[in-house]
Amino acid sequence: MELLIKILKWVGGGLLVLIIVFVTFVNLSSPKYFDAPYPNITASQDSALIARGKYLAFGPAHCATCHMPMDKMEAVENGLNLPLSGGWTLKIPPGTFTAPNLTPDPETGIGNYSDGELARAIRHMVKRDGTVLPPFMAFQELSDEDLTAVISFLRSQPPVKNSVPPTKHSFVGKAVVALGLLKPKGPKDTPPHRVPMDSSIAYGKYIARSVANCHGCHTLQDMVTGAFIGGDFGGGNHMESDPHIPGLSFYTPNLTPHKTDGHIVNWDEDTFIKRLKAGRVHKGSPMPWGANSKMNEIELKAIYRYLQTIEPVAGKVEKIVRYPGESHSG
Ligand code: HEC
Ligand code: HEC
Repeated sequence: MELLIKILKWVGGGLLVLIIVFVTFVNLSSPKYFDAPYPNITASQDSALIARGKYLAFGPAHCATCHMPMDKMEAVENGLNLPLSGGWTLKIPPGTFTAPNLTPDPETGIGNYSDGELARAIRHMVKRDGTVLPPFMAFQELSDEDLTAVISFLRSQPPVKNSVPPTKHSFVGKAVVALGLLKPKGPKDTPPHRVPMDSSIAYGKYIARSVANCHGCHTLQDMVTGAFIGGDFGGGNHMESDPHIPGLSFYTPNLTPHKTDGHIVNWDEDTFIKRLKAGRVHKGSPMPWGANSKMNEIELKAIYRYLQTIEPVAGKVEKIVRYPGESHSG
């Protein structure tokens, strides 16, 4: 008996020491700073380029669905193009993340950021201060031209003074970075210089994977590290309702052409385009329906065509909406 207590004390003591070592390690390595190259991108005043940037920001790339005050979301979704003054907040286990003010205000916005700093954040996930960005912005493969267009548009906005609270990382968030589970991810290959907009499969692939993040939400992801753990576009991510209606949540559907499990396998091109153009059905769904509905038909056609060519993934997502009180098991 006495021996047992002794052993338990050793084990318990050992565990306590391990925990202290781990907590100290995480705290000592936070914040962690990263290096990444500054892309050679220069903002332009070309009006066609600025117009493309604005289209991307309010449409497919949906910067405006996050870099906006929470109380303006609905108006923006319904078509009001307000300056990107920041404010959207997401509270998840790794921390409380707030999307910053992206208008040219020098104090509270990006007035003092260089083009390179903005481009590095978007392409390499390294913030101006050198810390890693969470995997919310899957724009690493954005073409040089579109990256230039977006930054040119940001610079063209009227400056808005709006100070948003800084992002706060929880212990979990710090640990994920300290352990190397979340680190900046740059482009896999040299990003394309330009991807011309047309209804081709190649353009559809570009929009679905590198601009509109259909891929990120509709592919099963580890919600803490952002790593993909399911087949491409197989769906299944569980997401809480955005303006938190207690208990309401969503599962992303399987968008692959799997004969029995694909959610859109019986939709023709016209049905798909009409559905995306129609916008939101479920209040609170995190899918940026407003932004997606602003995509033009050429783009939507291209996405549809691309989705027909991807590998079918088995696994039906039975219900994409769970109402409060419904079980999450089926
Ligand atoms: C899903 C929400 C979301 C979308 C969409 C989004 N952002 Fe962000 N963005 C954030 C959040 C949240 C942060 C702050 C994260 C942090 O502080 O760790 C951020 C940070 C940034 C930063 C870093 C600023 C710095 O201090 O270095 C830039 C630049 C930026 N976003 C630009 C954009 C652009 C341009 C787009 C569209 C092409 C975009 N974002 C789309 C949520 C989003
Ligand atoms: C931020 C996450 C997110 C992004 C980005 C996203 N989706 Fe979704 N999508 C969802 C969720 C959640 C649902 C289920 C709830 C709903 O229908 O609103 C959904 C539902 C759908 C549906 C089924 C709608 C229905 O009425 O049956 C289609 C089709 C779809 N998404 C296509 C796309 C395409 C195409 C893109 C890219 C242009 C995209 N999604 C981007 C999260 C996302």
